[in-house]
Formats: sequence, structure tokens, C-alpha cells
Amino acid sequence: SEPQPCKLVIFGAGGDLTRRLLLPSLYDLAVAGALPADFQIIAVDRAEQTGKDWAAKLFSLAEQDAKDPSAEFSCPHLDRAVWDRVTSGALYLSGDFTQADIYTTLRETLGAGNVIFYLAVASRFFARIATGLGQGGLLKEGRGFRRLIVEKPFGRDLASARELDGVLRAQADESQIYRIDHFLGKEANQGIMIARFSNVLFEPIWRREYIDHVQITAAETIGVEQRGAFYEHTGALRDMVPNHLFVLLSLIAMEPPSSLSADAVRQEKTRLLQAIRPIRDEDYVPGQYAAGQIEGRSVPGYRSEPGVAADSQTETFAAMKLFIDNWRWGGVPFYLRTGKRMSGRRTEINVVFKKPPYALFNQNMDDPRIGNVIRFLLDPVRGVSIDFDAKQPGLEEEIAPVSSRFLYDDFFRKAPNVGYEALLHDCMAGNQMLFQSAETIEAAWRAIDAIVTPEAPYPYKAGSEGPDEAMALLERDGRRWIPVK
Ligand code: BG6
Repeated sequence: SEPQPCKLVIFGAGGDLTRRLLLPSLYDLAVAGALPADFQIIAVDRAEQTGKDWAAKLFSLAEQDAKDPSAEFSCPHLDRAVWDRVTSGALYLSGDFTQADIYTTLRETLGAGNVIFYLAVASRFFARIATGLGQGGLLKEGRGFRRLIVEKPFGRDLASARELDGVLRAQADESQIYRIDHFLGKEANQGIMIARFSNVLFEPIWRREYIDHVQITAAETIGVEQRGAFYEHTGALRDMVPNHLFVLLSLIAMEPPSSLSADAVRQEKTRLLQAIRPIRDEDYVPGQYAAGQIEGRSVPGYRSEPGVAADSQTETFAAMKLFIDNWRWGGVPFYLRTGKRMSGRRTEINVVFKKPPYALFNQNMDDPRIGNVIRFLLDPVRGVSIDFDAKQPGLEEEIAPVSSRFLYDDFFRKAPNVGYEALLHDCMAGNQMLFQSAETIEAAWRAIDAIVTPEAPYPYKAGSEGPDEAMALLERDGRRWIPVK
């Protein structure tokens, strides 16, 4: 289905998310000719300004970002004419989301027709805004659709996620609610389902009989930056695992859906997460970074970051081993880890196959490096790499580990992508496949809630692979992490 003409109401239009992700994605859609006709932004935030001022300010920030090689997201070939197509008709409404007036103004401004409400605000406003919209009659679908995009975090445990869901569902139908997890929007992540279910090559061996274990890593080199206050009561486990890491887990391990309908796909993801066996205490390793070196630069420890308590027990790293109790995966460990201030920036999934049945070539079968690996490289390098053994040229039967790689950026023309393009496009088209269902989120929180946290996180040096205890998690099983760097 095609994106429908619509208005996009952005709550938090002056915020970071709007600048860094939303506007660049809309811009990319415009470049690709995928923005619907009659598209209009209604920007909502507290500051008093006109739509023209708002658009001009964002344009000059985009110009700055385009010139800044360290900006993670930008429009590198920023074209004023395209930018204007996105923002020229923008209307700006100044108001307080917690007051009823703004919803009255919105109702008068919007009239009938298709509208997407994007909550690009702190999570504490989600319930308030949804209620305001509902009570203001703005979510009633009459002559047009009304859709609500909610960012993460979606609660901080099962109880709060359910509570938030209760508020949303009191105002809108499930079919109107689009819960974003930007890991679902990333090109290479979307590629996992195609690799698995469009190639007979992979699927027959995608099971316990052939796979020894799976490693999922999302390592970052950045610290908590200016988000200390938020991060202190969130931590790496809640910030990354039930959402982003479980998105990857479900993509790599789910059963093939019977169709690409949002229901069929989301049901399989939910089923997979529901099959996670409660994680044992000794299989969860939280860590916290201490001062160290990243790329030759000294960086402070977490406890010295702004907004962080000097004796903080918040984890900035989390590793775990989990099992999926179903026919395909019974007994296969999945090792997950994520952390800030690690030695490299890398998101990837490594599917490690079993060793050959005996050592025909004199291999040392105790070496944890033996076994083919299919590596899904997700970020920043994107592609698939297959590691296998080849014959070392020469007179002896000697083995050399080699790897065969497909890289998106080499193979396809590199198209700009900040990861929200597909999500915005699909919401405008009414396709929920790339959005989280309430059931998936519940299943994820149930698995996280079962984790018992040790009293204090284990320290690790900034610029390392995480705490020693995370290494031990695999070593005690005779395995090892494939290094981040
Ligand atoms: C966000 C987390 O959801 O994801 C951040 O709140 C984290 O802490 C980010 O840095 C990671 O996403 P990406 O796309 O940069 O890997």
C-alpha cells in the first residue's frame, strides 16, 4: 500500500528527536519521491514562534549537521528545494501538552482528514497527550485515519507497560497505535527476514541440530552523553534489551510467518519472546564503565558523568545467556550483550555452527574458534559474512579460516537512511508490520522482569569488551565472544 496524504502532528517539535531523526527521514522520503501529496507538518511545542521560524531554525541546524562529520544523522547533500517541500507548509502551534487548550486548538486546526500524531516527547507525557487527544475527539476515525506514533521507552516493566497500554487503548484502537522501535526500521535489520525466508540455503540448518549458539552484540563507544538523568533510572538492561536486542533476537529466531501481514509477523515474534525461559541469576551480568581510553582519548567513568550519582549502581552494560524453549531452539544458548563505552561500535548477530563430528584434519576440537559462523553485520558495517575453513595453499592439508562477505554499501547504491524512513512511510500507508504490538512488548517485559539483578554492577574499563564476568559467561561453556574490535 501507498502512503496516504496526511498531516503529521509532531509533539516535541523543538526537540532533539525531531531534529536528528524525524526531519532527516522526512527529507529522505521527499528525495525518494515517497512523501505523499498534500503532506503537512503541524509542529507543536512550548516556545512561541511561527511555522516559518521553526522551519528556518531546523534548516540552519540541518546545514550545520551536514557540515559536521561527527553528526551521526544528517542530510549530506542538503537541497533547499527538497527541504522546503517538507517544511514550507508547516504550521507551528505553541502550547502546553498538559493543558486542554492545545487539544482544542488542534481540533479546530485539523478539521477532518488523515492525521498522524507523533509523540516525540519524554515518555512521562505519553499518557497525558494520548488522553488529551482522545478526550478532544482527535482520535475518532471518521472521514480520515487517526494514528498515534509512540516512541520508546514503553514502560519500565510489565506493570507500567500495561498501564500505559491501558491509557492508550482507552483512547484508540490497537490498529491506530504505532509503537516505534527504531531497530525495526534499520535496513540491515529488515534484511534478516529476507535472508532467512527467501533462501533455502539457510532455513534447513537454522535449528538446534546444527547451531551451537547465537551471539547478539550491540556495542557502542559513546557514553551516556547528556542523558545521565534519564539513564540513571533506566540502565542498559531496560534501555536496550527488551526493545532493541529482543527485536534482533526475534528476527533471527522466529518461525517463518505464514504471510507478511502485520498480525502474522508480529504473532511469530511474540511467540518467540514468550518462549524465553526465565533467565537464571548467574546468567545475567550487569557492568558499569570506569574511566579509560576510547580511540586514544581518555574518557571519564560513568560515575563522573553529568547527572550521575557518585555512587551510582546503574548498569551501562548488560550481558546474558538465555534459552528459548521451543522445538527449534531447545538447548541452544543465546548470548546477548550491549554496552556503552566499549572498544568498538558494532551491532551484529553471530550464528555459530557446531563443530564437525570428528577431527579429520587434525583440528584441535577444544578450540572455541572452530565452527562456521554466519555473521549478520547490522551497524555501522552492514552486510552478511560467512566464515568457513578453506585449504591453505601448499603441500599440506592445512586449514585456513576464511570469510566471504556481502556488504550493502558495496553492492547497492548507498542511499541515505537514518532508519526512520521505512517507519514513517509504513505508518502513512497503514502497515503496522514494522511496529511493536502490545503483546510483543508484554512478552519482552515479562522476560526482563524475571531477571534478578545483583547488588552492584561489575566495573569495566571504558574502551574494553566489558567486564571479565561477561567473558566468563561464555568461557565456562567452552565458548568465547567474537570480539567487538
Ligand atoms: C536508544 C537508546 O534507544 O538506542 C540509546 O536509548 C542508544 O541509549 C541507542 O544509544 C542506540 O541506537 P543506535 O541506532 O545508535 O544503535
